Amino acid sequence: MEPRGDAAAESPDSFEFTFEFYLDRSARIEADPNPANNDRLETASLTESIFDYHTQYGRTYHAYRAGSYYVPNDHLELERIDSQYEILKILLDGRLYLAPLSHENPPRKIIDFATGTGRWAIDMADEFPQAQIIGTDLSPIQPQLVPPNLRFEIDDGNEEWQTGSDWFDIDYIHFRVTVAAWSDWPWMIRNSLERLRPGGWLEMQEPDCDIDTDDGEIPPDNALKRWFADLRHAGVLADRPVHIVPDLKQMFIEAGFVDVHEKVYKIPLNGWPRSNKLKKIGEMWQRSLGEGLSGFSYAYFDRWLNMRKEEIEVALVDVRNALADQRVHGYEKFYVVWGRKPEYPGDRGAVPNGQSIYSETTILE
Ligand SMILES: C[S@@+](CC[C@H](N)C(=O)[O-])C[C@H]1O[C@@H](n2cnc3c(N)ncnc32)[C@H](O)[C@@H]1O
Repeated sequence: MEPRGDAAAESPDSFEFTFEFYLDRSARIEADPNPANNDRLETASLTESIFDYHTQYGRTYHAYRAGSYYVPNDHLELERIDSQYEILKILLDGRLYLAPLSHENPPRKIIDFATGTGRWAIDMADEFPQAQIIGTDLSPIQPQLVPPNLRFEIDDGNEEWQTGSDWFDIDYIHFRVTVAAWSDWPWMIRNSLERLRPGGWLEMQEPDCDIDTDDGEIPPDNALKRWFADLRHAGVLADRPVHIVPDLKQMFIEAGFVDVHEKVYKIPLNGWPRSNKLKKIGEMWQRSLGEGLSGFSYAYFDRWLNMRKEEIEVALVDVRNALADQRVHGYEKFYVVWGRKPEYPGDRGAVPNGQSIYSETTILE
């Protein structure tokens, strides 16, 4: 090293850092006595491979645990997930949850399984700034800038759940439109019961994968009815059963939840209802479901029903026409089920025998 004159020593450009000088070797960084659970970090958050999306049918699919979820994760699907979020906000009158969470005694730990683009988790983090919220998903499709009390983790909910302290004594566990994600729903519900604190709530908000009408019956050859039947069939073959949504309430009761509630909304398939609110929801649902049809079908129908992409697209022409047909007053049911973990042994809840207080449906004009 050249000897420096005074002028050179004062110039910031020529300043040489002498790290040894600043490093006090005796100064230790104190460890957090309650560390966050990092036992799965190697799986996801830190690895680039989670962005190594698989491309097929002109769409991209998740890389982490590749092949286990049959719906794409590209911008078309993310836009659909976001539009679905807007629709459900209107449907649920702006409410994020129906379980009786309290602002006076707010939840402290919340987990949102299969959070998608994380819109629900972000709004929940704003509503409950005291809560620590974790949103999990197979795909890293969540925004970076989120409230400080929210974090996202790449994780597969079908595998043994994490064991860090954030994953026990949870106040509220939430699932929304995760219907094609899980292999064993009773297992998910039992695990939730185990991980909740006594008195904590589990809530599932899931669409029924079928269509109904209140005037007469939808003929079985209706192309949209048939498409849903194919999807349910493929779901069973793929070990991702989507037909189970009407059984969720019973699964909650069998797992040991008390005060189990079920509320069933009807989502019109297009703009057929008279009511302005339901007409708007129907028009938005027609667009959202219509845009999702290809993505929902490609991998499921190719792998399990042996249909090629071109064949699927031809079949979807009729499905979209059926979706748009306002002569059929069709709707899809949307189930919201919530239940409480007993507070103490023998706690049977306010409702005798864990029966639902009500099974309410919205009224269509
Ligand atoms: C239709 S999106 C729903 C997103 C969000 N809950 C919402 O309501 O907007 C379903 C999400 O489930 C995720 N998913 C599927 N299988 C999963 C699994 N085994 N573990 C975690 N997430 C999963 C997908 O990556 C996708 O983002």
